Amino acid sequence: MADRRILETRTVGKTLAHDSAPLHVQGSATYIDDMREPEGLVHVYPGYAKDGAHGKITRCDLSAVAAAPGVIRVLTAKDIPGLNDYAPVFGGDPILADGRIMFHGQVVFAVVADSREAARRAARLAKIEVAAERAAVTVEDALATKTGDVGEPYQFVRRDAAKAISAARHSVSESFRIGGQEHFYLEGQVSLAVPEEHGAVTVHCSTQHPSEVQFLIAHMLHLPAAMVTVECRRMGGAFGGKESQAAQWACLATLAARLTGRPAKCRLDRDEDMMLTGKRHDFRVDYKAGFDARGRVVAVDVDFLARCGYSADLSNAICDRTMFHADNAYFYPAARIATRRLRTNTVSNTAFRGFGGPQGMLFAERLMEVIALKTGQDPLDVRKVNLYTDKRDTTPYGMKVEDNIALDIIEQLEASSDYRTRRKAIAAFNAKSPVLKKGISLTPVKFGISFTLTHLNQAGALVHVYTDGSVHLNHGGTEMGQGLYTKVAQVVAEEFGIAAADVRITATTTGKVPNTSATAASSGADLNGMAARAAAATIKGRLVDFAAKHWKVPKSRIRFEDGRVLIGNRAIPFGDLARQAHIARISLSSTGYYATPKISWDRPKAKGRPFFYFAYGAACSEVTIDTLTGEMKVDRVDILHDVGRSLNPGLDIGQVEGGFVQGMGWLTTEELVFDDQGRLRTHAPSTYKIPCASDVPADFRVRLFESRGNKEDTIYRSKAVGEPPLMLGISVWTAIFDAVASCRPGEIPKLDAPATPEAILRAVKGVA
Ligand code: MTE
Ligand code: MOS
Repeated sequence: MADRRILETRTVGKTLAHDSAPLHVQGSATYIDDMREPEGLVHVYPGYAKDGAHGKITRCDLSAVAAAPGVIRVLTAKDIPGLNDYAPVFGGDPILADGRIMFHGQVVFAVVADSREAARRAARLAKIEVAAERAAVTVEDALATKTGDVGEPYQFVRRDAAKAISAARHSVSESFRIGGQEHFYLEGQVSLAVPEEHGAVTVHCSTQHPSEVQFLIAHMLHLPAAMVTVECRRMGGAFGGKESQAAQWACLATLAARLTGRPAKCRLDRDEDMMLTGKRHDFRVDYKAGFDARGRVVAVDVDFLARCGYSADLSNAICDRTMFHADNAYFYPAARIATRRLRTNTVSNTAFRGFGGPQGMLFAERLMEVIALKTGQDPLDVRKVNLYTDKRDTTPYGMKVEDNIALDIIEQLEASSDYRTRRKAIAAFNAKSPVLKKGISLTPVKFGISFTLTHLNQAGALVHVYTDGSVHLNHGGTEMGQGLYTKVAQVVAEEFGIAAADVRITATTTGKVPNTSATAASSGADLNGMAARAAAATIKGRLVDFAAKHWKVPKSRIRFEDGRVLIGNRAIPFGDLARQAHIARISLSSTGYYATPKISWDRPKAKGRPFFYFAYGAACSEVTIDTLTGEMKVDRVDILHDVGRSLNPGLDIGQVEGGFVQGMGWLTTEELVFDDQGRLRTHAPSTYKIPCASDVPADFRVRLFESRGNKEDTIYRSKAVGEPPLMLGISVWTAIFDAVASCRPGEIPKLDAPATPEAILRAVKGVA
């Protein structure tokens, strides 16, 4: 049934360009800083202490700031009428620091000036002194200073892992590090607040979570939420960095607007954006594992020590997801999977594509490589014997893996990438090549789809049909480049039998669809596609009822197709039907709502079905390293990725390619360096290297898995695609691991992530 419906679709499943693509390439897509500036606009810029990461503010002299040219006002904590906190869940993120700071760069005041340049320059004139206390910067600092974690430790336990490991034929015990990652969205954090009558405010904010920003502003100003409207047409990238951390800048812009009575804009420059907002969590991973002679895992016992920064932000849910993905696609008969959520005096780490999952998965994939070295097998064979199967199908958190296609994907990719032949060729190459060494690795991805906080899995939409048959679409999801708006428009077009181009896509706003969840957890299309289809189906149902009665035709003989409505033997334009229905006083507007079925999660018991389904994929990467310099090149990458029945293959391929490259960047060139004061030393592209066009593998073969569709009843049986492909980048890191291992037979490479040239060189030399 589902299959037939998909085969018959006319816009769903087709490659349509991103609705804004022409605007993107012409430079005419309106981002917030491109909006025509309202009359009387003021600019807001944050200020912080030049020195000091942690301690009481002993002096805060802002007189030079206030006296600087163009400055209208200086805002501090005491100017906030309501709640001084922009935290998403647990509290503890002051909009403006009050009395003490907890990391270098924590915002203490904000300058309001008549130009952005004036505000930025003035912000540097502050004289702030901090009675410095010891700053916990590293995992080791945080373990030593008893500052209290940002959340309770948490673990999944299956049987007695420690006992199983000691009884196992082979075992390994290691500690390694996984670096963080800067989002490096092209459009930085920005908000524009416009005061409205009666004290209301409209805020244009580059945010994944307009509803949360709305509530935080309302709390800050002691306003009912209905007085605050937050709108976002598009973001120039977000990647999780605008899930919770767009709010502070929106609050500052709104506070300035409220206190000056003028519109106010706050836009960070690149350096401050990098210093003042959180990143992907970096980890130390301490683990022991036991396995048999075939390399089958008997038990794992792993501690993930996360550097969360100064506050909880989203760290608890992120660390939970690390645990949910510490198995990746592998069955662990006994396991203890634990996390510590360590507080450090650094910027508060936050959501980043994969949301903790990538770090859990990197552990699993490193383990597979290590087991292969210890048992003298091909890592791919080790991976295969450890995959979930029909009998070995339950995760350490008690969810059955019912939709497992990992082996199928791996074997198809193994054949299409010619893995075995290339493995042999690489061994021959390495035997003869003293300086350059090659490595290859094929790794799977299994990623759980749904917010693990169950109540977030809901969405709403609003659809209007005008009497000329044109359609206005709105829903709670936000557009950050991933193509969500286009996919949802395709769904609505399909329902009405019109072209996607005839569905008018409109900005996400809290005024049209209320109480939304963040667009995150890759579930934007799953949730909003369903909600929008429900809205369209309601209107369509009314139109069918009307047409059946009006033309005395059975409902079964009414079809919507190619912009027309076939009513028995009659065909009329969709717009004609809309007009006639309106004259007959039929409503042409509807909301739609969706809540994901089947999911449940009992966190105290650590058992349940937190995910509606899993998304799968696999990547095979081949690399060459230079053992004299540590330089690395990715020679070839083959990817096979599962999106169920694709809503839009072109957009999905774009997500797979982009996700892979971003994951590869995380694990190879992107390195965050904090000094002992917790100051980020890599706060510009000069010192922080994201992949650029020339880093995309020269031979890059990306395919979507031929799928009969999601086993679960998702929108047109598609699967989420936003985050999972990022973890395909792990294959590059494991290929580097493989190349390094070939230099030092009998040893486990001392390679951390990211595998920068320096790290590769150290590993080749065998120095930690
Ligand atoms: N793709 C682009 N181009 N820009 C982005 O910011 N964010 C990613 C992913 N793909 C992102 C992106 C993240 S972190 C998530 S959770 C999903 O998109 C969110 O969108 P979706 O739920 O519609 O897939
Ligand atoms: Mo994505 S990290 O869930 O915003």
